[in-house]
Amino acid sequence: MSDTLVPAPKLVAGLADVPVVASSVSYIDGNKGILEYRGFPIETLAARSTFEETCWLLLYGKLPTRAEFDGFKKRLAEQRELPARMIDMLRALPGAGHPMHALQASISALGMFSRKKDIHNPDDVQDACLRIIAATPVLVAAFDRLRSGKDYVAPDPTLDTAANFLYMLTGAKPDDFAARVLDVALVLHAEHTMNASTFAARVVASTEADPYTVCSSAVGALTGPLHGGANERVLEVLKDIGSPDKVEPWVEAQLKAKGKVMGFGHRVYKVKDPRALILQDLAKKLFERLGSTPIYDVAVELERQVEKRLGQRGIYPNVDFFSGIVYAKLGIATDLFTPVFAISRVAGYCAHWMEQMVGNKIFRPDQIYTGGHQREYVDISLR
Ligand SMILES: CC(C)(COP(=O)(O)OP(=O)(O)OC[C@H]1O[C@@H](n2cnc3c(N)ncnc32)[C@H](O)[C@@H]1OP(=O)(O)O)[C@@H](O)C(=O)NCCC(=O)NCCS
Repeated sequence: MSDTLVPAPKLVAGLADVPVVASSVSYIDGNKGILEYRGFPIETLAARSTFEETCWLLLYGKLPTRAEFDGFKKRLAEQRELPARMIDMLRALPGAGHPMHALQASISALGMFSRKKDIHNPDDVQDACLRIIAATPVLVAAFDRLRSGKDYVAPDPTLDTAANFLYMLTGAKPDDFAARVLDVALVLHAEHTMNASTFAARVVASTEADPYTVCSSAVGALTGPLHGGANERVLEVLKDIGSPDKVEPWVEAQLKAKGKVMGFGHRVYKVKDPRALILQDLAKKLFERLGSTPIYDVAVELERQVEKRLGQRGIYPNVDFFSGIVYAKLGIATDLFTPVFAISRVAGYCAHWMEQMVGNKIFRPDQIYTGGHQREYVDISLR
């Protein structure tokens, strides 16, 4: 009797193009540069919606009525308050540590203060999502102030998420334009299909872990420079280059050394990231209003030079290229750029967590074993 031939499983590096879930949260067409949240084009949401409304849309799949929206905003404002011991914990963390690590630890700790996290109880589910979306910006702003020896600024319930975040960072109410710019940036970062951190969220969610654990795990995945961490690196590069005339030789040297240019390229987009287009326009308006800086001029030239060399390979600016420039102009510290990404993306993680809970099956993929078999164990005295 002959052995049945079983085809060897094929390894797809990085699971590129392999569907791992069915989802109605967001949609991307990378060749056409389309991004939609729950079927709404990102351009429409950036122009007409707000971060809070976008959170509702992501969580519940439809736009809220006025009454639903007002109630949601009120609950978000209430849920911003942190327990005093949470603030003590943030104060105790090493100030020289990265704010993303502080955020990952503090979202996890926030869950320890919550008794409402039974994933089978619909009230707890709503409560946990609201709490995480409301408290994440507060945790980031609080850590930033405490690490530099400043007093904690309590959240202002009359302000929306973006304005309140800027207020908590500085202790001064931001102007409407600055708050709106940040609000749009939050809308743009709230969700992006099956990226690495959202996938991490869904894997952890599939174990029936609570949403605080799900979000803190996803925030950990977001720290990496190939994912959320790229926006920090972009600003460092722009500062290092220093002036537009130094861009061309810098790009030549970088590409010759087979180095990557941070803020360019995307696994899915083969045209310019639609979020980058919106942020670029915002950056232009912001710099026109508040005055240009060498960093902006270097960025414009860097985009030109990289597109000239890599555009034909489908490598264009991604969302991280312009977000750092915008945040720096808003006075946000460089190491807070990825936490600002997280402030927004927790809305997407929560929407995916809720979706994962419907007909959940724990993730347990396969592997291709490349090691040996039946090896001889040699006693330690003879090795
Ligand atoms: C986002 C990213 C990880 C996508 O990765 P990917 O789809 O796996 O593509 P790869 O990293 O395999 O790159 C494919 C090719 O394009 C090149 N490439 C991709 N992004 C590049 C970049 N930013 N600068 C220069 N070359 C780049 C790679 O060197 C590689 O070239 P090769 O085929 O000659 O080896 C990648 O583009 C990248 O590292 N970008 C910089 C980091 C960044 O901005 N991340 C934020 C993403 S929103």
